[in-house]
Amino acid sequence: MLGFVVALKKEAQSVIDSLKNVKREIIAQKEIYSGKIFNKDCTLIVSGIGKVNASLSTQLLIDKFNPELILNFGTAGGVDDSVKALQYYIVSECCQFDFDLRDLDGVPLGFIQDYNLSFFPATTLKLDFNLEKRKLASADRFTESQIDTKEIKNLGCSLRDMEGGAIAQVCYSNSVPLIAVKGVTDVVGNGLTAEQFTNNLVTVNTGFNDI
Ligand code: ADE
Repeated sequence: MLGFVVALKKEAQSVIDSLKNVKREIIAQKEIYSGKIFNKDCTLIVSGIGKVNASLSTQLLIDKFNPELILNFGTAGGVDDSVKALQYYIVSECCQFDFDLRDLDGVPLGFIQDYNLSFFPATTLKLDFNLEKRKLASADRFTESQIDTKEIKNLGCSLRDMEGGAIAQVCYSNSVPLIAVKGVTDVVGNGLTAEQFTNNLVTVNTGFNDI
């Protein structure tokens, strides 16, 4: 069984539309669609935005549907010129740049002591499609903040979103492999990121159909 975690219904719609014998249910206030793609059983959960929504949805998907693999796709922002708007990237590993125990314990930003690491693996499987890999930093905010941009770069990440780091932590905790693919809606230095995001959202979502 293949599991999909997607933040927004409009991002998920083309997968939902491809499902044969589709069944819709609501669990824990999350919309869940199950059916077959290429004769393979699939379940997609529309997580909503942010790390808590993404975590609870990923754990729910694992507990109720036992996927052998989880796929996350969606939009991301770029923070340096190694990524381009309207391009797609495979996520190699993810951290959470709003996980901050620096003042309390003197550990680096994003370091999670329970796991003794900052980065969770994302796409470790070998894939047929040939997209470049980038590191992703997640947080529960969409901002124009220059401090955020600097900290994301200091962590060695080129991409940011609001779910990937949480999904990767839950997959890692459950030993379920993850493939994460991100389409870039906005890049720092090209004007207001919120404006770029709004302008590019439909194009980036439509482009996932061609990957
Ligand atoms: N998703 C797409 N662009 C983003 C950004 N700039 N920040 C957070 N999430 C995003």
